[in-house]
Amino acid sequence: MSNGTREHWSGGLGFTLAAVGSAVGLGNMWRFSYMAAENGGGAFVFLYIVLTALVGLPVMLAELTLGRGSQKSPIQALVHYGGDAWRPLGALFVAAGFVILAYYSVISGWTVRYAVEAALTGFPQDAGAHFGAIASGYPAVAWHLVFMGLVSFVVSGGIASGIERVSVALMPLLGVLVLGLAAYVTTLDGAGEGYRYYLTTDFREVLDFGVLKDAAGQAFFSLSLGMGAILTYASYLGRDRNLPKEALLVAASDFGVAFIAGMVVFPLVFALGVQGDVSASTLGALFVTLPKAFAQMGGIGRVIGGLFMLALVVGALTSAISLLEVVVSSAIDGLGWARRSAAWVCGGAIALLGVPAGMSLDALGLMDQIGGNLLLVLGGLVLSLFVGWRLGERALEEGEVGGGNRAVLRLWLFMLRFVVPPVLLIVLWYSLKESAALVIKLFS
Ligand code: TRP
Repeated sequence: MSNGTREHWSGGLGFTLAAVGSAVGLGNMWRFSYMAAENGGGAFVFLYIVLTALVGLPVMLAELTLGRGSQKSPIQALVHYGGDAWRPLGALFVAAGFVILAYYSVISGWTVRYAVEAALTGFPQDAGAHFGAIASGYPAVAWHLVFMGLVSFVVSGGIASGIERVSVALMPLLGVLVLGLAAYVTTLDGAGEGYRYYLTTDFREVLDFGVLKDAAGQAFFSLSLGMGAILTYASYLGRDRNLPKEALLVAASDFGVAFIAGMVVFPLVFALGVQGDVSASTLGALFVTLPKAFAQMGGIGRVIGGLFMLALVVGALTSAISLLEVVVSSAIDGLGWARRSAAWVCGGAIALLGVPAGMSLDALGLMDQIGGNLLLVLGGLVLSLFVGWRLGERALEEGEVGGGNRAVLRLWLFMLRFVVPPVLLIVLWYSLKESAALVIKLFS
């Protein structure tokens, strides 16, 4: 079905802002702070930075190369370069998109609800009880469905007039919000303790494989890698773009927002003395501790908290859009569906799959471990082997189109061949072990 009429970004910053919109999301704030808290702060942040550069960047460029070169959605892109044998691995990407968006939308639903509550009623004093009441059950499912409706609506509008338009309008807003919040928290008494916790590295923990696994999974999740989201966005890209430059721009923006979000979250938490709650509920950390802090701040807390939640909603929306676009563009290319029906049918199916995550936090945590960690790491491994070994020199040629630097690309190919796969194999092993342990715990 793909032919000369494939949609394209309208140019300028359209693609870049959409890709940054995909990368910047709940991963940067909710997942990053919950992972950092669970893994002891600084050591995690340190490994996350290292893995973003050593593994994230090369895989991002691999996705950009496959997408732009083939001008096809993930399954067809693998088949285009590798032949039919690769089809099942492409299907794995689409499956990951299904699982991740299903629970991602539930969490997004919480943020929409908090944002609306901040505007209408403020943050309740008993944040823990409130979170317990809204995180699972029918109201959680209802907000999840509302959110999926919004996402499907934007995706049904297409690339330039749907996704690009929303990203160009909202991403600058998100940047301003996050920077403004970071500036505000520097004025709080006791913020220093938070910066210290966040930025101090205990190098003994860097050697822990559990921390390594979480840092790698987080790097993939946050950069939207390992399931063809960046690949899909790049498939709407013209041949005039410099791919290494785009990869660097997107990765740097994503890291910047994650880092600055940490400069908002940890000082807030420490300044208001609610740090004890972080380790008590890691998955809900952001949604319990921060609202508690906002409630204690009185009137200004409502404003600051409302803006924080608004930033979260913006990030969540532009990320969810990219997750759905992977599935939708696969249905358009592979099944010949029209965009509009693909958007609503796929969006509807994912909404259904999200119902269990909306009913139980255990189910949500399990989907995050399997979709958000295991499948992404596996996908990243497949991508690095595919581009590094199967495409090999051909990938260099595609990378040079649009002005990629030869020496940089050579280094990239070397990383894809010899550095990324062994690191990901180790990570995959630990991820498999933890996924198995979670499944056993949940079903026994
Ligand atoms: N990167 C987004 C975030 O940090 C989530 C996301 C969007 C994603 N698209 C993805 C994660 C594709 C993995 C794969 O919130």
